[in-house]
Amino acid sequence: MNAQDRSVTPVNAPEGWTRSSWRERTALQQPQYPDAAALDGVLKELQQLPPLVTSWEVLALRKQLAEAEAGKRFVLQGGDCAESFSDCESGLISNRLKVLLQMSLVLVHGLRLPVVRIGRFAGQYAKPRSTDTEERDGVILPSYRGDFINQPEFTPEARIPDPRRMVKGHARSALTMNFVRALIDGGFADLHHPEYWDLGWLAKSPLAEEYQKMVAGIGDAVRFMETVTGAPIDNLNRIDFYTSHEALLLPYEESLTRQVPRQWGWFNLSTHFPWIGMRTAQLDGAHTEYFRGIRNPIGIKLGPSVTPDQALRLSEVLNPQNEAGRLVYIHRMGAGKVADKLSPLLEAMKREGRRCMWMCDPMHGNTETASNGYKTRRFDNIRAEVEQSFDAHAAAGTRLGGMHLELTGENVTECMGGARDLLEADLVRDYRTTVDPRLNYEQSLEIAMLIVRKQSQLAQPSAF
Ligand code: PEP
Ligand code: CO
Repeated sequence: MNAQDRSVTPVNAPEGWTRSSWRERTALQQPQYPDAAALDGVLKELQQLPPLVTSWEVLALRKQLAEAEAGKRFVLQGGDCAESFSDCESGLISNRLKVLLQMSLVLVHGLRLPVVRIGRFAGQYAKPRSTDTEERDGVILPSYRGDFINQPEFTPEARIPDPRRMVKGHARSALTMNFVRALIDGGFADLHHPEYWDLGWLAKSPLAEEYQKMVAGIGDAVRFMETVTGAPIDNLNRIDFYTSHEALLLPYEESLTRQVPRQWGWFNLSTHFPWIGMRTAQLDGAHTEYFRGIRNPIGIKLGPSVTPDQALRLSEVLNPQNEAGRLVYIHRMGAGKVADKLSPLLEAMKREGRRCMWMCDPMHGNTETASNGYKTRRFDNIRAEVEQSFDAHAAAGTRLGGMHLELTGENVTECMGGARDLLEADLVRDYRTTVDPRLNYEQSLEIAMLIVRKQSQLAQPSAF
């Protein structure tokens, strides 16, 4: 049994749902904690700790996602594949924020749409793994499952799941959120000062000219408007920033699932936008059960094995009222598979009138191992999946409302290609990720420019 109080009768929860009803289903990708009493103690402690986000922020995001679904906004979601506790550090956090702000500037300018910014951080500490164990030189140990659960070092002690790590992860998430909120409240995102976001690369980058031109254009527009109105434009220094993570570790998510005064229903208050990963999105699985009862907007990753029927049935369970802004389908098919695998899903959802916001994750279907052993992704494949996804939506008459990316504000060498054409031999130079390879700042900005270019091509009537 578990530490949760199952005697609480939920109000306004879907039929049969409690925050612990997922425990009746098969929960994949969960650690086996050796000490049940220690786990119970930790979950009780977590239930007492303050939440990381508020219900009104969650509902504000839901409204913005509904607008994105209607084509009035574009969503940019990005951050590390896996955060680590040791990366909870001011330079790394502010650089990641800077690259997301730069990308959103490019998108706002090019798409002429407000951008919803969602960080893949402040809680991205649990990872699904393709195998439960890892073997090195004949030694077999449990896999590393993210800093929430165990440690990456290849020793028996480091790989034992330790529930105390959830409390530490909650605290690290709070520290990350606190710093991001303080930066934004302090005017870090102020459009009058995009130079705050310089990452020191502009002078050297092949993309510099295009980016600088955009910044200058926006600066001129702002000054022009302020001259015309005779007053500073408010709100340019204040933006919304939301957080997200894969809500994989269900005991943790359950502990942060709360009711709040003057609101009906239950909220996951560990993050604004939790998502279910591709490996745990079974219709009858524990993750689907848990997600159906929370009021947050929710993301579901859809891989190439998902059938149109599965996508429809999942949407009926997770969005029974067919509401806008509730369900985000994040497709990650792999370059070359989009026409075959994505188009039937788009057509089925459209035909049945099922609502969702469509997002593209061009990263996870394009992971490969280079001949020198590094896990990498080719920029060309990422670009191809972005372009093919826009084309598939245009053909189906559906709308691609956002992009989900693994990126960092550092000059890492984890993905090959891009404006600087990183080669296999470059990977060794600065490869830091503990799980998946991320776009570096320049490659990230290049994707933002690519989205703008592709969108404007589609908007142009064909010359023929
Ligand atoms: C991820 O987003 O890091 C991930 C594991 O994705 P997916 O579930 O799509 O494989
Ligand atoms: Co990943």
